[in-house]
Amino acid sequence: MENKTIYILAIESSCDDTSAAVLQNKKVLSNIVASQKIHQEYGGVVPELASRAHQQNIVPVVHQALMRANIDKKLLSAIAFTRGPGLLGSLLVGTSFAKSLALGLHIPLIEVNHMQAHILAHFIEGQDYRYPSFPFLALTLSGGHTQIVMVKNYFDMEILGETLDDAVGETFDKAAKILGLPYPGGPLIDTYAQQGNPKAFPFPKPKVDGLNFSFSGLKTSILYFVQKEAKANPDFVLENRNDICASIQHTIVNILMDKIKEAVRRTGVTQIAIGGGVSANSGIRNALKAAERKYGWHTYLPKLEYCTDNAAMIGITGYFKFLENRLTDQKISAQARYKL
Ligand code: KG4
Ligand code: ZN
Repeated sequence: MENKTIYILAIESSCDDTSAAVLQNKKVLSNIVASQKIHQEYGGVVPELASRAHQQNIVPVVHQALMRANIDKKLLSAIAFTRGPGLLGSLLVGTSFAKSLALGLHIPLIEVNHMQAHILAHFIEGQDYRYPSFPFLALTLSGGHTQIVMVKNYFDMEILGETLDDAVGETFDKAAKILGLPYPGGPLIDTYAQQGNPKAFPFPKPKVDGLNFSFSGLKTSILYFVQKEAKANPDFVLENRNDICASIQHTIVNILMDKIKEAVRRTGVTQIAIGGGVSANSGIRNALKAAERKYGWHTYLPKLEYCTDNAAMIGITGYFKFLENRLTDQKISAQARYKL
C-alpha cells in the first residue's frame, strides 16, 4: 500500500482551535487553523463557548482546507479526527462532523489520539531535519499535558513520567495571569523573558521523584512572591516584568531539562523530540540545542505550526493508521479522557 497516493482529510477540535488539514501521504497540502479569540476576555478557555465556536468554524475551515489543497472531496481516501483527550463538547463537534462526512463520502473513518498526534507530527514531510528513528524520547508539552514518552514505534508508546498536577502550558498561563497578562500568556512570557535576566528572582524547583513533574508549587510561589513585592511597591510587576518572566521561564526550563537528563540517564536513549504548544518556547528550544552540542544528543524541534494544536498532526497519524488498516466504525464516540 506504500506506493499508492493516499489523501487524508484531518479534523482537530479538542480545545480552542478548529483545524482541518489535507495530507497527500506524509506531505501537508493544507493546514488551516481558526484560533478562538473569544476566550481572551475570560482569562482561559470557556468550554461552552469553545464548542459553540467550533460549530461556527468547522464548515468554513474544512472547506478552506480542501480549497487550499486544491483537491476534490471525491479523491479523499479517509477522514481522520481527534477523538480525545480534550474538552468533550469541543471533541463532539469534530467527531460528529468527521463521522457524517465519512458516511456521506463512503470512505473510512480514523480516530486519532491527540497526544499521539503531537508526537507523530515529527514525521510530517518537509521539516528541516530527518525523522527521528525508534526508539526516541518524546516530550509532550501542552496546555493540558506534560509527559515524557518512550516511543518504540508509531503506535507503541510508553509514558515514563507525567505531571502530577498542572501541565507546563497551564503553568505558563497561570503565571502570566498572576502578572496581569492576557490569556494565553505562555507566548508573552516567552517574549518578555528574552529581554530579562533569568537569574533576577530565584524560584524553588519542586522535588519530585522519578520522571514525574509537579508545577503547582511553583505557581503558588510565584503568586506569593508577586503579592509580597506588590505590597511594598505597587508598580513592582510593571517595573520588573522582563526579569520576572525570564526568571519564571528559566525555572520551568530547568525543571524540564532536569527530567530529560534523568530520562536519558535511565534509558540510554539520546534522541529527544518535543511537541505540544510549549515546544514553541525559545527557552526550551535553546536549552535542548545547547544540550545537543554538550552531550551529543539528537534533538527534534518541529516547525512551530506543527507544535501548537493543528490538524496536520492528526492527518499524519491518520496516514500511518490507514497504512496499517486501523480504521474506526461509525459507532465511535468522542472521549475526553483518552490514554496514550
Ligand atoms: O498544544 P497546545 O496548542 O494546546 C493544548 O493541547 O493544550 O498548547 C497550548 C499551550 C498554552 O498553554 C500556551 O500558553 C503554550 O502552549 N505556549 C507557550 C508558547 N507558545 C504556546 N508557552 C510558552 N512559550 C511559548 N512560546
Ligand atoms: Zn495539543
